[in-house]
Amino acid sequence: MLSHLISIDDLSKEDILSLLALASRVEATPRRELFRRLEGTILATLFFEPSTRTRLSFETAMARLGGRTVGFSEAAASSTAKGESFSDTIRTVSRYADAIALRHPLEGTARRAAEVSRIPVVNGGDGANQHPTQTLLDLFTLQKCFGKLEGLAIAIAGDLKYSRTVHSLLKALARFDGIKVRLVSPKSLRLAEGLARGLQTEETESLAEGMRGADVLYMTRIQRERFPDPLEYEKVKNVYRLDAAMLKDMPDTFRVLHPLPRVSEIAPDVDDTPFAAYFDQAENGVIMREAIFLKLLAPDFAS
Ligand code: NCD
Repeated sequence: MLSHLISIDDLSKEDILSLLALASRVEATPRRELFRRLEGTILATLFFEPSTRTRLSFETAMARLGGRTVGFSEAAASSTAKGESFSDTIRTVSRYADAIALRHPLEGTARRAAEVSRIPVVNGGDGANQHPTQTLLDLFTLQKCFGKLEGLAIAIAGDLKYSRTVHSLLKALARFDGIKVRLVSPKSLRLAEGLARGLQTEETESLAEGMRGADVLYMTRIQRERFPDPLEYEKVKNVYRLDAAMLKDMPDTFRVLHPLPRVSEIAPDVDDTPFAAYFDQAENGVIMREAIFLKLLAPDFAS
């Protein structure tokens, strides 16, 4: 039984497959049949770091299931600003709500929250570490685009050093057979040793080379807020820019994913091509988060 969702490390391949199947079931179920499943449930969204999609899609998912949301979207709006400890905040909120969705700039905070919480904690991103709900919606999107995960060739480009979405995704992909990963980044933003364990990988600095022969490109934003030195960010901020012209020879089945927000790494002219899957991906986030809430809070429906 899943009691929290903190890291992809905590999920077996079977857990992942069962969440993907549940998300497909949610998608196929008429809204009116879902909107009472979590009636009376209260979700607390504790966001100590900026967010659009993650927080709003958690809230939308809870609303679609009939529950409600309380919370804050910046640390300055909470008693943290008065000096309250993180664990006191979590302890208190876990006596108000039925589940917590948490985002925090420090790695390991979601795990720490789960240790003191009486209610399920869902990690909405802890520093550069993990973003498991994003990974599950990424996998759901891949499965919808390609009908499978096994055997895909995936180019992952951009900030491989600081992107938690990449760190989470690689852990999940390693559970599936035959996946080939091409890691595309400038030298200073290479993936740390050991994070692609269990996967067949190649590295390149060239985006064009990384995409060649791949089924999908997973593009990421250079994570400005995680750079200790702003000058280092300036050096790499425009390193990649995918535009429609670069996609003209790609097969019809090729897809571009991005967890969003994008800055300049995908030109707007890509949006109108059939390759762009990133807004569908964002939409899939609501469905996957509904599945996650059902798994954690309505085990009868989820079994
Ligand atoms: C990502 C994040 O917060 O890690 N955004 C998201 O949740 N969709 C990616 C990013 O901020 O670049």
